[in-house]
Amino acid sequence: MSKYLITSALPYINGVKHLGNLAGSLLPADVYARFLRHEGEEVLFVCATDEHGTPAELSAREAQLSVQEYCDAMYRTQSSIYAQFGLSFDHFGRTSSVPNRVLTQHFYEQLMRHGYLVERPIRQIYSAEDGRFLPDRYVVGTCPKCGYQAARGDQCESCTAVLDPTDLVAPRSAISGSTDLEVRETDHLFLRLDGLAGPIRDWVDQHHQWSRLTRSIALKWLDEGLSERCVTRDLPWGVPVPRAGFENKVFYVWFDAPIGYIGATKEWSDQAPHERDWRAWWWDASDVTYSQFMAKDNVPFHTVFFPGMVLGTREPWTMARQIKSFNWLTYYGGKFSTSQKRGIFLDDALALFPADYWRYFLLANAPESDDSRFTWELFAQAVNKDLVGTFGNFVNRTLKLIEAHFGHVVPEGGAPGDAEQRLQDDCQRLTGGYREHLRHQEFRKAVQVLRELWATGNVYLDRRAPWNLLKTQRDEAAVILRTAINLIAYFAMAADPIIPFAAGTVLDALQVNDRERQKWLVTIDLESYRPEQEFRVPDLLFRRIDGTEIVALRKRFEGL
Ligand code: MF3
Ligand code: ZN
Repeated sequence: MSKYLITSALPYINGVKHLGNLAGSLLPADVYARFLRHEGEEVLFVCATDEHGTPAELSAREAQLSVQEYCDAMYRTQSSIYAQFGLSFDHFGRTSSVPNRVLTQHFYEQLMRHGYLVERPIRQIYSAEDGRFLPDRYVVGTCPKCGYQAARGDQCESCTAVLDPTDLVAPRSAISGSTDLEVRETDHLFLRLDGLAGPIRDWVDQHHQWSRLTRSIALKWLDEGLSERCVTRDLPWGVPVPRAGFENKVFYVWFDAPIGYIGATKEWSDQAPHERDWRAWWWDASDVTYSQFMAKDNVPFHTVFFPGMVLGTREPWTMARQIKSFNWLTYYGGKFSTSQKRGIFLDDALALFPADYWRYFLLANAPESDDSRFTWELFAQAVNKDLVGTFGNFVNRTLKLIEAHFGHVVPEGGAPGDAEQRLQDDCQRLTGGYREHLRHQEFRKAVQVLRELWATGNVYLDRRAPWNLLKTQRDEAAVILRTAINLIAYFAMAADPIIPFAAGTVLDALQVNDRERQKWLVTIDLESYRPEQEFRVPDLLFRRIDGTEIVALRKRFEGL
């Protein structure tokens, strides 16, 4: 047995995330964690909110809250949403926590000691009225390219030109509106990625199992050559830089965010220090297999920048063995857009349909080898065909039939024959493939097999037609229905990593106990669920989404 450490990219604190964030990191990480726990592995699944950087400060300002208040509120909101989606974190922490600050400052000390951080002066805009340096996006003015009057110092939203704040005509502070701005020189810390390029490349070269997407992004960055990168900012909100002359500076958000994986584990361990040891997962832990999940825009930070920081400490921190990255989920082929309100946010999603519907769709259509589309039509099709028509239908018709003719117990009598043996073999083969796909983090393929597995149930029932045998061959009908109810238990167990809520409802209704659930899918035995056991018929597991509903949803989410 080895230990599995799993992390999902840390969602930014500024606002409720959309379906793309769920599809491209949080959800697949959860499925992998659930799967490995079933396999009997020791798993630690951690995540956190990524709370620093200008977006947090800007959103807090918009909400008229202090940054701390804003982050506290958004942390609660995000935690609750993820719990409602069934994300089974062992711990969901915050990058603004004390452990993360201590760890970040430790990384700083180590990198400094080994000469991988150097101080260099840079020129930045200073606002006398605000009494602070202004980050690029805090400077607004007229775009030199198109004349748009509210262009930001980093980019013009009107013509998309990439700008430097000094390019703006008539620049002013976005905080106070003051035009009393000047360019001042100030010292910052730079990470010597150039000096770390060799060790980073060696490390990347040890990981041929990474997907093409992950590897190609890593190699592209390395091939283009690495240069020094500024890792401090003139901001009031962030991890303070423990260095003389840096009293008003903090670390760049991407410096402390990935350390947040360790910080969140330390938070977890601090909650029960006698039972949990964060070091066993992160420090000199050769028995740990670490997988990271993220969208492709995060890959450079996880294959180059963060590994560079870790290697630069010359300390034995755990590094990722698997980096699973995802392409984009689009909304009818277009990008999800927060500012244009196009797409679906997670709170709206939960208000519309149960979490399992979203989980199922997003995993069946995981943007693994390419971008994938969300459309209401595809969503309804997945729900109607697979959840309602295949799994739900099989559970419902089987249990109703047994209820009507045998009562609420597993039918007794008869003995399984060739058809049952063949079915058992098929299920064994399919669940074997399913487990392989999940082990390899191939979520689309896994769901395809799960669907096939469910379909075997309906095919079996239709072929054997127990309803025709109830009067004349009651024992034979009993065998078939007993086999079918056993299938239900297996189908639900198999489905648990993907649709945990419905799976739980079914297993509870069948009163499958924890010991039996732990047997998982290793050996399929269609006689293991015994005749004397009682069951309840659960309420309908899923409901159809019809055409008029689709039209209304399209309209509502069209955007501007
Ligand atoms: N907050 C970042 C994003 O949403 C991801 C941070 S991942 C971490 O793109 F490694 F920095 F934690
Ligand atoms: Zn412009």
